[in-house]
Amino acid sequence: MIYLDNAATSWPKPEEVYSRADKVLRSAANPGRGGHRFSRQSAEALLLAREAMASFFSVPDSRQVIFTSGATHGLNMVLLGLPGVKRIISTGSEHNSIWRPLEFLRQHRDVEVEYVESGENLEDLKKSLARPADLVVVTHASNVTGHIYPLEEIVSQAHAAGALVLADVSQSAGVLPLDFVGIGLDFASFPGHKGLLGPPGSGGMYVRPGLELTPLMLGGTGANSHDPGPPPALPDRYESGTVNLSGIAGMAAGAEFLQNYGLDKVLSHELDLRRQAAQGLCGLGAQVYVPDGKTVGVLSFNLPGIDSGDVAGILDEVYGIAVRGGLHCSPRSHDALGTSHQGTVRISPGLFNSARDIDQLLTAVEEIIGQGRR
Ligand code: ALA
Repeated sequence: MIYLDNAATSWPKPEEVYSRADKVLRSAANPGRGGHRFSRQSAEALLLAREAMASFFSVPDSRQVIFTSGATHGLNMVLLGLPGVKRIISTGSEHNSIWRPLEFLRQHRDVEVEYVESGENLEDLKKSLARPADLVVVTHASNVTGHIYPLEEIVSQAHAAGALVLADVSQSAGVLPLDFVGIGLDFASFPGHKGLLGPPGSGGMYVRPGLELTPLMLGGTGANSHDPGPPPALPDRYESGTVNLSGIAGMAAGAEFLQNYGLDKVLSHELDLRRQAAQGLCGLGAQVYVPDGKTVGVLSFNLPGIDSGDVAGILDEVYGIAVRGGLHCSPRSHDALGTSHQGTVRISPGLFNSARDIDQLLTAVEEIIGQGRR
């Protein structure tokens, strides 16, 4: 199998991730839910993982890092839990984990939602911010084209206009350096299973000190059991129920691996492979969707006259190459590209891919095009 679908879930994981998750699963139980040694060991593992993730994102107080089931969970927590919201601006390339909650808010809570395109030029955002908004939601990097949106500038414009900022860093966490506090983010949501190289079902969010959300879920937190409401203190306030400890520990091992390896090396490797693929695909006559400006390693293309889902199916079944076809849960990105009907074939190389993998992809694509012509 040649795996080129790291934007969906990274694979394989570094050995450290498998072994940390395995160790925690074997030697720990439920953190904060008992005084016995297994529970204490679990609490210790959870604390270490929280501190590792806080350090990875330069968050001084690890209590501001809340563990979630993935980026979707954290995005929903903010979008549905931020009180008193009347108007939200979203800055483009949203995944359905943003678009659907926004449309829910529009339909059921009478929230005004505005979508603006913010490529390199932030004029549309500036215009939109001329009217008061409570929140700006930013997708840091597109999961369809890889385009990196200018996060820092968006934050500074939003703050100047009095709006809070939520960043979806699903495609940038583990690839681009992210200092949540330095950037000035109010909220950020990250998945563990993509660039952070952790297990599926892990993830987290950052909540800036002083901001409060209405929790999406209420339940056991291990403390204040007499109290009918959620505990005021973080992280418990937003972590009802038993956490996914082995997943979280695996994610922390992935983050530590990346810190030692160097994010700059990860990005440059993925961009080298992306460039090789883009050049090769263009040479074969594929339509390659290359946005202006900087990107992460994600690349979308189409072959003339063949549906993207069919191309992905043939690559898998005939050549053992895993890519993703279709809309990638991001329909608005395809509106912008003009690919709403056929979708795109997406490749997303990761740290463990090589130039040889891309050569094999190109050979396979050449054959598929040749068969189409016959
Ligand atoms: N959001 C993931 C993707 O882009 C699943 O494939």
